[in-house]
Amino acid sequence: MAGSNNLKPTPPRWLLAELTYACPLQCPYCSNPVDYSKYPSELGTEDWKRVLSEARKMGAVQLGFSGGEPLTRKDLAELVRHARGLGYYSNLITSGYGMTEEKIVQLKEAGLDHIQVSIQASTQELNDHIAGTASFEHKKKVAHLVKKHGYPMVLCVVIHRENIHQMPEILAMAEELGADYLELANTQYYGWAHVNRDLLMPTKEQFEQAEAIAQAFKEKVAGKMKIYYVVPDYYEDRPKACMNGWGTTFLTIAPDGMALPCHEARVLPGLDCPNVRDYSIEQIWNESKAFNFFRGDAWMKEPCRSCDEKHKDHGGCRCQAYLLSGDMYAADPVCSKSPDHHLVDEAIASARNSALATDEKPLIFRNSKNSRQLA
Ligand code: FES
Repeated sequence: MAGSNNLKPTPPRWLLAELTYACPLQCPYCSNPVDYSKYPSELGTEDWKRVLSEARKMGAVQLGFSGGEPLTRKDLAELVRHARGLGYYSNLITSGYGMTEEKIVQLKEAGLDHIQVSIQASTQELNDHIAGTASFEHKKKVAHLVKKHGYPMVLCVVIHRENIHQMPEILAMAEELGADYLELANTQYYGWAHVNRDLLMPTKEQFEQAEAIAQAFKEKVAGKMKIYYVVPDYYEDRPKACMNGWGTTFLTIAPDGMALPCHEARVLPGLDCPNVRDYSIEQIWNESKAFNFFRGDAWMKEPCRSCDEKHKDHGGCRCQAYLLSGDMYAADPVCSKSPDHHLVDEAIASARNSALATDEKPLIFRNSKNSRQLA
């Protein structure tokens, strides 16, 4: 567990507990690893409780229960109760599929603070197509139940080429459902979204038009609904400070117990990500090779190394650098200063050509069969 530098890390603040890779939906933009079928074993209840306790003891305050679909775990309410006892602010990140009124009551009694429901589109036809499962009407009912039981209504819609034309209708749907918060998350190209990038990436014109509509709506509903607009990396010229800096804030635990500095870290070669079955959270966070790998800036190459913005963006996203250029130490190619920036332009051009093609390939949906084929 020897670390690669001597910086004293600040403790984790956010813990993302990916309880399971099981999911009744099949969204082709899912950020879960494409080869998730290789990791079928899930941590048991007692291991999760220990993880929650150890991370809280170190200073974690925010907890997200996600997946897959966390509602498929029978012990969800028990884990929520444990989290409440430890003093976490807990958030359930769910598709809503499988939620019932009885379960909401149970989770509320257990002390869950927050529920975020995702919806795929503004029409049943498109929602059910993208989700790969008939779920639209049920999701709308769940949105009402969330409000009825005194939670803020937090709606998340992932935006891509298949639904971006529905922006006005998506906004109207959010208003109709009484959303207090609406997250419009332009697709980030990791996991399944990376595989489907040519089919999911909107053109710059589509993106700008949708953004203008969302901005105008934001002003109209100011004070009633808060809108978070997650911009697509590929149309930016500076990279995001991914994870707020590697190993500074976020700790993700995958369903099989692997501890990850970001949700995509499994793709990076040679990290040797540790497993909570073998090490304590404190050992993992402070001492493991994986969590120390990109801490600080000693790992940086040019142009990041001498860049006056390096403390702002930390060189961008390591996984994006690797997925685009094959070099995880490279500057994130999203950055216009990166010598690999042309790769982003090429990806945009490739998506545009794919949209214009008469024989566009079909989307690859996230399911076990496809995962086994792609693994
Ligand atoms: Fe891994 Fe950005 S997703 S560093």
